[in-house]
Amino acid sequence: MTFSRRDFLRIMGAAGLMTQPLAVLAAQKLSGVHSTVFQGISPDFADRLVLAPGLDWHILLRAGQSLGKDLIFGDGNDYLQFFELTGPQHGILWVNLEYYHPLFFSSPQRNRESAHQDMKLVGGALVEIRQGTEGWSLVEGSPYNRRLDGHTIIPFAGGREVAGKTEAVGTFANCAGGITPWGTVLTCEENYDMYYGERLHGQARTPATFYDWDKFIDVPPEHYGWVVEVDPKTGAAKKHVTLGRFAHECATVRVARDGRAVVYSGDDSNDEFLYKFISARAGSLEEGTLYVADTVRGRWIPLVHSDPRLAKVFKDQTEILVNCRQAGRLVGATPQDRPEDIEIDPRTGGVLVAMTNNKPAGRPFGKILKLMEAGNDPRALTFKTETFLTGGEAGGFACPDNMAFDPAGNLWFTTDMSASDMHKGAIQNFGNNGLFVVMRTGPLTGQPVQMASAPIDAEFTGPLFSPDGKTLFLSVQHPGEQSRDRANPTSRWPDGKGEPRACVVTIQGPTLERITQGRA
Ligand code: FEO
Ligand code: CA
Ligand code: CA
Ligand code: CA
Repeated sequence: MTFSRRDFLRIMGAAGLMTQPLAVLAAQKLSGVHSTVFQGISPDFADRLVLAPGLDWHILLRAGQSLGKDLIFGDGNDYLQFFELTGPQHGILWVNLEYYHPLFFSSPQRNRESAHQDMKLVGGALVEIRQGTEGWSLVEGSPYNRRLDGHTIIPFAGGREVAGKTEAVGTFANCAGGITPWGTVLTCEENYDMYYGERLHGQARTPATFYDWDKFIDVPPEHYGWVVEVDPKTGAAKKHVTLGRFAHECATVRVARDGRAVVYSGDDSNDEFLYKFISARAGSLEEGTLYVADTVRGRWIPLVHSDPRLAKVFKDQTEILVNCRQAGRLVGATPQDRPEDIEIDPRTGGVLVAMTNNKPAGRPFGKILKLMEAGNDPRALTFKTETFLTGGEAGGFACPDNMAFDPAGNLWFTTDMSASDMHKGAIQNFGNNGLFVVMRTGPLTGQPVQMASAPIDAEFTGPLFSPDGKTLFLSVQHPGEQSRDRANPTSRWPDGKGEPRACVVTIQGPTLERITQGRA
């Protein structure tokens, strides 16, 4: 996501007057990697979804489509999670809906009513899906099909009060997430300041950084930037104050030996922090302690009011949790290079953190960091770190973001090179955003192999394997993001004509099965 408030005004006010020059195709391509068992692809620069040989894709859901009754599937699909109903081929899919492209979905006349219309485009969707002979499809009109959006009233967990209220209106900016051992989904509010602005502790409120809802609707910005827990069967939701407020990318849960949940989460902004939460008891996130990482000394620092450095500034624990960025700085947390998704290596217990990049710091390629807790205990307060993968020409990828382990323990990750930077400068040779696999065994062990390439401006998000490993669900987010003219968009994916649309696709094929079943 690379828009500014000025871009929004330009899109809404002068649609059709601006044209975006087509990106210049880089002459030099990085080479695809081959093995005797499967073959990767080279970077691709075209407006298409390209897959490695032996893989095929189908659209499961597309932005703006009906889910039956009066329900609309919103825009900007991201994190995906699956909950079985009658078996591995039938269940409820959760889909984060992070943000919408105003050019394609908003009314150019801006007022309170248009803002309310836009509020239906974001949040999350619960959809019943089933696999039949024709592949996966939506069960239209299912009672499980629901939307959470910018209007949904969501209480703060445990009856806590934030900015004088015990509930918030809406959830949005839902980027990545997590799943709890008790069968709920965690959806993370990331760039919330785009919608209603921000109010830093002790400072004046600042306006929305991209949209304009704050002009027409008055809600406290402190009500956003939380991890929201949702029951997939009922849609019941709560915002967890205990996990802190910041641009939450994900919420990755690991269970300690005593049954307590430990949740890792990153703040995806230049020089912000990495966090972990240790719950006070099994089966709940409503009580516990939030820690912030000092990756220089390898220790977790508690963000608690008993710390005099914090008590001097914040009146109570809730005020600390509402203002994690300022609190983290006060206790000496280490600035990071935009921590995105986090996955726990199922074989080693290593905590992998995708760090997308830090352009102002001169690090445009990113890396994947590996953090090993002392004694491999998620409750440990000390750890060691090492670089797991380095982005750049040698690694063949740049700007890692979402990750997922398949049933055979291979790591899959996607890249998020900003649409505004793509095909240019330091990342000019990397083509469009991609999907990569890092094999755990075999001739390609440890070496990222590109398996898919996204359409123009798009990013792959939310990679999720079906329980049998035979399907990879994948979000194709923001194709044509750089479009400024509705009649002349930068991408026309998926139809090859008309306007671009974000979609959730299913990827299947013999290559996927060989890899996920450990036969590659
Ligand atoms: Fe929404 Fe940090 O990606
Ligand atoms: Ca992301
Ligand atoms: Ca993930
Ligand atoms: Ca990202």
